[in-house]
Amino acid sequence: MLLSDKVIVVTGGNSGIGAAICKAAAAEGAKVVIDYVAHEDATEQLVNEIKGAGGEATGVEADISKPDDLHRMMQTAVDTYGRLDVLVNNAGIETRQSLLDSTEDDYDKVMAVNMKSAFFASQAAAKQFIAQRTPGLILNISSVHEDWPMPGNIAYCVSKGGMRMLARTAGVELGPHGIRMVNIAPGAVDTPINASTTSNTELLGKLTDAIPLHRVAEPSDIADVVVFLASGKASYMTSTTVVVDGGIMQGSVGL
Ligand SMILES: NC(=O)c1ccc[n+]([C@@H]2O[C@H](COP(=O)([O-])OP(=O)(O)OC[C@H]3O[C@@H](n4cnc5c(N)ncnc54)[C@H](O)[C@@H]3O)[C@@H](O)[C@H]2O)c1
Repeated sequence: MLLSDKVIVVTGGNSGIGAAICKAAAAEGAKVVIDYVAHEDATEQLVNEIKGAGGEATGVEADISKPDDLHRMMQTAVDTYGRLDVLVNNAGIETRQSLLDSTEDDYDKVMAVNMKSAFFASQAAAKQFIAQRTPGLILNISSVHEDWPMPGNIAYCVSKGGMRMLARTAGVELGPHGIRMVNIAPGAVDTPINASTTSNTELLGKLTDAIPLHRVAEPSDIADVVVFLASGKASYMTSTTVVVDGGIMQGSVGL
């Protein structure tokens, strides 16, 4: 198995991409800590599914926009499984508002959940790796919008752009400690965050037409890349982004 006995914390792990990461990591032998802020029932169901398949998992309720909750989440991993090996900053929200429409409150919420949480969770994880004297890995589920403008969703793009520089800069700072930091930038994935698009036949058609592979991603397409990056097969990758977008960022109109 690729992740035997590694302890992995996944924020927002009870839904969409996070849930797929939890299942894929557990199937490869990892011990999984599933952070959630809502839907305790979904977390319990996921823990039971992983345990039923012979894996190990535990849920922890923590609002990752609050640094105290973040520290409690990390401590749960250490108390339950004795150590931390991989942090996945996955939880995220969007408001779908333009610069002219955004309120300070909307902006603060998006930045707190997407960016501030990744910053301070990464800090807490790095301190734990250094205290353990072990190499460690921090993965950010950013987005193609860490680089690619999405008009009408500006706070989201700003937060993901911040994650891009977080991985670049923290990866350089933490490299001497043997700690790696890598972003995964998904394109369009079939999860609840995208429900307004994927449940609308016309919008879904336009979207798939713009994707060279002509389909939106399944959450497992992203989880497979997490498993690869967390395995010994990617040990020279840090301070960079892996784009998993079916080619959408290179798509052309083809006139
Ligand atoms: N679905 C896509 O097309 C897509 C594309 C690119 C990037 N992403 C990113 O992938 C990540 C996962 O999104 P998803 O598509 O699985 O959507 P999702 O809505 O299914 O999952 C988001 C998760 O984050 C959790 N969350 C929100 N606020 C939180 C908080 N304060 N504390 C703890 N957890 C919180 C939610 O409860 C949920 O579990 C997000 O960061 C998103 O920006 C998604």
